[in-house]
Amino acid sequence: MRAPTITIRGFKVFKGLLSAPEQQDLLTASRDVVAAAPLFSPQTPYGKPMSVRMTSAGRFGWYSDRRGYRYADRHPEGGDWPAIPDQVLAIWRELVSDTRDPDCCLINFYGEGARMGMHQDRDEADFTWPVLSMSLGDEGLFRIGNQARGGKTESIWLQSGDVVVMGGEARLTYHGVDRIKFGTSSLMPKGGRINLTCRVVD
Ligand code: SIN
Ligand code: FE2
Repeated sequence: MRAPTITIRGFKVFKGLLSAPEQQDLLTASRDVVAAAPLFSPQTPYGKPMSVRMTSAGRFGWYSDRRGYRYADRHPEGGDWPAIPDQVLAIWRELVSDTRDPDCCLINFYGEGARMGMHQDRDEADFTWPVLSMSLGDEGLFRIGNQARGGKTESIWLQSGDVVVMGGEARLTYHGVDRIKFGTSSLMPKGGRINLTCRVVD
């Protein structure tokens, strides 16, 4: 098992884990998922659309509307979610588990000005499974808080090719993305950040 570059409050950060060709493959795979299951802007339960656009691959996709946050077995426009790309599964099997694959790979697309507020990932049934996060494209300022809302936080810039494993004490820790540096990556010359997160759901 590889050693993380740095561990912050249990978040294992693997800087530059993905080579340039691996990032390109993941980008292509993400675009294939988006072509089959278009990005949408989920509504928060409070009625505001999120600035991040999303879609998913796998048995389940993450979804949110006025009824709350949850996993759905179909895309909001109908139709199954596409299969989780093999490249994504390979990273999961190396860093998380080679006995159980994830049920969901959530794809978050951050355009200019998009951000993600502090939240816990808590819509899954079993928190002993870590969440695996892979970043592509523009740098994003990732903020790590505590297991309850509020308190002191620490931030780290995530760059294209960085991978984070959020397990153990980090699994229910609040986290979010304050901002991205739009147009800073050569992987996506038109700008934007993609973050893929894999989860075991049920
Ligand atoms: C998330 O918490 O779902 C996304 C994290 C990120 O974009 O790095
Ligand atoms: Fe999250």
